[in-house]
Parts: sequence; C-alpha cells; structure tokens
Amino acid sequence: MTLSKQPMIFKDIDRAIHHLLNREVVALPTETVYGLAALGYDGQVVEHIYALKNRPKHNPLILHYARLEDSCNDVVWTPWAQYLAAACWPGPLTVVLSLAQNSRIPLAARGGLNSAAIRVPSHPMIQEILRALPGPLAAPSANLSGQLSPTTAAHVAKDLNVPILDGGPCMYGLESTIVDGRTWPIRILRPGALSVEDINTLLLGFPEPITVPDSGPMQDATVIAPPAPSTNVLCPGQLLAHYAPKKRLRLNATHIEDGEGLLAFGPPLLGATVCAQLSLEGNVTQAAARLFAALHQLDQSICQTIAVMPIPQTGLGCAINDRLWRACAALE
Ligand code: TXA
Ligand code: MG
Repeated sequence: MTLSKQPMIFKDIDRAIHHLLNREVVALPTETVYGLAALGYDGQVVEHIYALKNRPKHNPLILHYARLEDSCNDVVWTPWAQYLAAACWPGPLTVVLSLAQNSRIPLAARGGLNSAAIRVPSHPMIQEILRALPGPLAAPSANLSGQLSPTTAAHVAKDLNVPILDGGPCMYGLESTIVDGRTWPIRILRPGALSVEDINTLLLGFPEPITVPDSGPMQDATVIAPPAPSTNVLCPGQLLAHYAPKKRLRLNATHIEDGEGLLAFGPPLLGATVCAQLSLEGNVTQAAARLFAALHQLDQSICQTIAVMPIPQTGLGCAINDRLWRACAALE
C-alpha cells in the first residue's frame, strides 16, 4: 500500500531554518501572502522553486532581505527608491532595481534579466529566519503558477507538498506593490498592499531630483499609477493568466443570476446561492485582506460562477480591481 504524502505544517521557526539551510524549498508566511522560499544565492535550489510551482523560467522571483543594507552589494539603489524603501520597509513594497556588478543573485532567480526585484518583509517569522540566514530568500507566492495566492497555511497545502511554516492568516492578504525604482518618477508595475496614495505620502519629503540621467523628461507626479482596470461588466482579455480562481467571475454585478455565488462589498445583493463578504462597511483595506480567502472559499463552494459587486477605485480598491480584472482575463 502506498501512503499519499501529506504536506508538513508546523510552527517551529528553527525547523524552517534547518530545512532552508539543508537546501530545501519551504513555504513561509509574510505579511502579504505566503511565499515559496529557498536560499536566494543558490541557483540550483531556486530552479527547484520554478519546478514546484510549474512557473515559466522567464518570470523572475522576488528576493527577500532582512534589511535594506543587506541588498547593497546585489542591486544599484537610486536615491528616490532608497528614500521610499527606507520609509516603508519592513513592509509590503517590492522595488525593481538594476543589478550591481558583483551581484550574487543568480540568473535563475531573476529570469535572466539584468534587474532584480527586492523587498524587506515585516512578518516576524520571516524576519527571524532572514536574520539567521547567510543571504536573502528567493520567494514567489506559494501557489501553482496562475492560481490564487495563498493567505493561510491551509491554502498552501491544497496545492503544494512542501514543508509549511504556519504563521496564521496574512495581515494584508494581498501581494506587495511592485515599483520600478530605476527611474524617476517611480512607476508602479503591480498594484498591491501599499496604495498609490500611501506611496505618494511616503514620498512627500523627497526632494525631487533636478536632473535624472536616462529617465526622460521630468513629470509632475512622484508616482505613475498603472491604468485603472475597465469598469465594464464584461471582462477585458489579452492579459496573462494570473491570480485566477477556478470559477468564472462577473464583475460589477448589480443583480444575481442563476447558480451564481456572490463576492459582496457592502450590503449583499439578494438571491445568491452562497455569499462571501469582503467588507460589510465598504472598507477597501479590510476587503483587500479578505479578497483571496473569499475567492478560495467561493471556489470550494457549490456555486457555479461568481458575481462580484462593484468596488471603488480608491486606496487598495485599485489593487483589488486589478486582481479581479486579471482573474477574468485568465478565465476567458
Ligand atoms: O507580496 C509579495 O510580493 C509575495 C511575497 C511572497 O513576497 N510575492 C509575490 O511573488 O507575489 P510573485 O513571484 O508571485 O510575484 C512577483 C512578481 C512577478 O510578477 C514577477 O514577474 C515580478 O514580480 N518581478 C520579479 N522580478 C522582476 C524584475 N526584475 N522586473 C520586473 N518584474 C519583476
Ligand atoms: Mg504570484
């Protein structure tokens, strides 16, 4: 008789460190979502992450450091990116920077690019682990490629048979905001747990550079936000498959159709088979924290498709709408 292997879920930080130093891939909690982590300077074990996730090799990973200073030999900091990161870290911000000449980040971790995405996470468990390791951790979200990011250890265990350090539900429940820190103004590459408004506030005290080599004409905004997702009921296509639940989504729903479950924002529409509430009070920050867990819940429920109530395009609403929009595109 063969026993199917169950993923190991545990709360012992030393055990996670032991697995990592043993060149194993381990799922770890961060304040955003769970990551699938391995020693970031070890190209071979990093390749293993791609295999486990079934992730295309050209899609680079984020390198997680204990402190900003630890990254200085690996990437080239610009003054504005450093100012923003110093104000936000540890926290839900990822910065893309050029690779330093003697960088130790292997090709595998950066998908062959001459840039790298780095961040300093704040979750106390991953912080303690990073401080005990000799270098950064490479970690994408701990889900199979193209699927929803996990915000609990149980979500990870559904997809991946790896050791999982259980740090409880993730505080933000949404991936970090990724910015391109190489040029000014800073450009948002992926909306996430840090809103455009937050970034602009953090940058308020930064003395705008007078001349910036290679960054083109100066612009007024300190942050260039990505275009807002479409507000049409029908979902736009031509996007990469990303962040997708298994069931079809219908955005901006104002009524319920047969067999639909409801992703509610505010007082729910009547008539849904099942309902997952993002925020009864209409709070976008609370809704962001619940988004992936609610989609996981509806995916596992008896409903056939999911109607999504309109979510305002303010604060973290931008990141929520971005994920919902991509999920629709992925399912087309
Ligand atoms: O909150 C998060 O960011 C989580 C936790 C685990 O840190 N991580 C995460 O990783 O969401 P992942 O791999 O699912 O998404 C990282 C994104 C990918 O879309 C990747 O293409 C992009 O970062 N990325 C990585 N390196 C890049 C680079 N050099 N230039 C542009 N984009 C990059
Ligand atoms: Mg991901």
